[in-house]
Amino acid sequence: MYCFRMKMMVSGWAGRLARPSRHQFSHLTSRLITKDAAARHLTAGPQHQHHICAKALYTAHPPLTSPAASRGLVFGGKVLREPARCLHTGEGKHDQSSSSSNACSATCESTVVRDVLEYWSRTLAAADVPEAHLAAQHIVAHVLGVTRSKVQSDGTAATTLTGKQVEEVERMMMCRLERMPLQYILREWDFHGITLKVVPPVFIPRPETEQLVELAITTLKQLEAPKPRVLEFCCGSGAISLALLHALPQVECVAVDQSRHAVRLTEANAAQLGLEERLTVVMGKVTVDARPPLPHNTYDFMVSNPPYVLRKDLMELQPEIMMYEDLRALDGGKDGLEVIKAVLHQAHHLLLPGGRLLLEVDPCHPYLLPAWLEKQNLDLKLVKIHQDFGKIGRFMEFMKNP
Ligand SMILES: C[S@@+](CC[C@H](N)C(=O)[O-])C[C@H]1O[C@@H](n2cnc3c(N)ncnc32)[C@H](O)[C@@H]1O
Repeated sequence: MYCFRMKMMVSGWAGRLARPSRHQFSHLTSRLITKDAAARHLTAGPQHQHHICAKALYTAHPPLTSPAASRGLVFGGKVLREPARCLHTGEGKHDQSSSSSNACSATCESTVVRDVLEYWSRTLAAADVPEAHLAAQHIVAHVLGVTRSKVQSDGTAATTLTGKQVEEVERMMMCRLERMPLQYILREWDFHGITLKVVPPVFIPRPETEQLVELAITTLKQLEAPKPRVLEFCCGSGAISLALLHALPQVECVAVDQSRHAVRLTEANAAQLGLEERLTVVMGKVTVDARPPLPHNTYDFMVSNPPYVLRKDLMELQPEIMMYEDLRALDGGKDGLEVIKAVLHQAHHLLLPGGRLLLEVDPCHPYLLPAWLEKQNLDLKLVKIHQDFGKIGRFMEFMKNP
């Protein structure tokens, strides 16, 4: 997860968003947009009420559940978004009254990849879709069945799309115009050497979590256990557990999530990757005092990327996240620590002496958690704070006292 609250660490929102790094793929990484943009989005007036029903556009492969966009969104008793109005008739007719719909109703005259790319990059950019060109490349590459780098290097520039491919490109671009995250449109995403199915509203794995996996692999290799037992709380799509199982053939994992959709997606991903033999998926909620029944009483290693966004920061999330991802995957309560505290309490009971726990956290948490931990009677000590790509303390490593 990505959220940056410590303004003293960055030069404000604009500075952060302008940073030329992989974080520029902002709907993938940075979860925050400017407050103005968030307010515009949340108080969408008539000019914004052009939501083409994402569900209608998403028909080729129905998701496990309908996208949040088609349902509206009420969170903490507050209406964040009205249900989307379906203006897409499926017959190519669109509402002409909004700028986005105008963009949608136009189609590219040419079917040559070079022109299609140029047209859709411009159309997405005109509708303020972040990383327009990158998204257009990903979609065209997906429809052609080639890598994005092939499209990027002009390897397909002169290729002509078939009628079916043109339709598919248009359907996907329309979803992107509706701010559906690219990963949900493509229905798959690469994560630490594996390809995962990604289905709304299950949380999309973020690049910084690949760093968490790297740290977990290093730690697991250092453990003396010949067949380490790993427990992951808050597994989402199964990204972390499956990446560990893929990288370390001796490891066994138990992955837990409270969301039925997440559990089903983790199981589907495990089966697709042929890793289901070494993975047990458990549905249930983790709290300070309770956890679902688990297959083992103790574990060598625990890892978690729990919900950790501070409640007040939820309103600043990008439209992609607000409209399509399950906000319960992000909401860490008032101080972002609600689930983190639960995971720490459970680690106290479940880790073997000398066992490690790795957590992905908000940058304010390395400042808050040590004082909290001191006041608890937990058999855990903070070993290290690891930095992310942006040199921000993002991962916390704990050890169960030997
Ligand atoms: C930020 S997502 C992380 C998903 C995945 N591990 C990843 O990194 O892509 C957090 C996940 O925690 C789950 N979750 C939230 N609160 C939980 C709780 N108290 N107990 C179990 N799962 C919880 C949500 O359903 C969501 O799938």
